Amino acid sequence: MTGPIRNASADTIAQMEAVPSQSRSEPERFARASEISDRFVDNVETIVYGKRDEIKLVLTALMCGGHVLLEDVPGTAKTMLARAIARTIEGATASRIQCTPDLQPTDVTGLSVFDQKTRDFEFRPGPIFTNVILVDEINRATPKTQSALLEAMAESQVTVDGVSRELPSPFLLLATENPIEYEGTFPLPEAQLDRFFLRTALGYPGFDDELRILEEQRFSHPLDDLGPVVDLDDVQELREAAQHVYVDNVLHRWVVELVRATRGQDAVVIGSSVRGSLALERAARAWALLHGRGYVMPDDIEHLFVPVLVHRVVFTPSFVAKARTSGWEEAIEEFRLDCLAMAPRPGSETDPLFVPSAPV
Ligand SMILES: Nc1ncnc2c1ncn2[C@@H]1O[C@H](COP(=O)(O)OP(=O)(O)OP(=O)(O)O)[C@@H](O)[C@H]1O
Ligand SMILES: [Mg+2]
Repeated sequence: MTGPIRNASADTIAQMEAVPSQSRSEPERFARASEISDRFVDNVETIVYGKRDEIKLVLTALMCGGHVLLEDVPGTAKTMLARAIARTIEGATASRIQCTPDLQPTDVTGLSVFDQKTRDFEFRPGPIFTNVILVDEINRATPKTQSALLEAMAESQVTVDGVSRELPSPFLLLATENPIEYEGTFPLPEAQLDRFFLRTALGYPGFDDELRILEEQRFSHPLDDLGPVVDLDDVQELREAAQHVYVDNVLHRWVVELVRATRGQDAVVIGSSVRGSLALERAARAWALLHGRGYVMPDDIEHLFVPVLVHRVVFTPSFVAKARTSGWEEAIEEFRLDCLAMAPRPGSETDPLFVPSAPV
């Protein structure tokens, strides 16, 4: 593979459309995946402004079969993002659950009800049987309901009355948590946070974007006009392409070194689990593809360190207290730099022998 594959012309892409995915060569596969992912991100970005990186992170999770925790204040387009993603995929279904302490596991999974006519039990699927689900304020649900959600996330299935039922594919769960309100909540235990592939925040839009939002929503909501630009097969193609992205052995080792570095910091009680290593490597492959490459570079891994690993780490009370006064962003940046000092980036001054390059 030489140079970026993003430059593939529209004609080349059109020719590729005609070739079944199994018989495509690697560069063709990557070029097509890159084109699909651009189309996807561009479409969502037409209504969620100034959040390209965050949209790409959510697409990364979708490509890797992972789920996303959005930790954000109200009104930052979380619901809109979930609905925009579902609308972008032709044939995809979407649902939403608002979590409250009285939400029962069966309100999520569905339940068997007795049908008088057939004199038999009939399963009524709950809102979890969908392609994209938004679980608002997951920390307001009781641990029992949270664990039903987590079974769905980990295994893409739910068990009701002893019978396991497969969820549709793709299955993307976006859960939201409000970082400022803790009263009456059930914080997700650390072990459950580890089930989220990545965590991100959308944050407020910039001044000009907020102005544009005011102008555009005067008569209607932009979501009403958003149409699909990819289909379920395209999503499957993206997933397959991400599996074939090249990762050099040096970078594989660095992923493991970085994850191990999170376990060796003074500020940490429990570092990232092995799920963190798996997720970081997978996410880096999808991220490379989203940036028009069929191979991973150190930048991909470094960029994904915070969204993929930090929510899996349990910090010491003194670090948390310090972070509350200095600000979380600064504290996390310091933690990231400490991990990078312990596991230096290949090709950095501490490791001058490695020159990141494309595979030959
Ligand atoms: N970055 C953005 N781009 C476009 N619209 C935005 C953006 N941020 C917020 N909005 C607008 O703000 C409004 C609120 O968005 P939304 O309902 O998705 O927020 P939310 O994060 O789900 O809030 P809550 O936590 O209260 O459920 C929407 O009308 C949306 O159009
Ligand atoms: Mg919302």
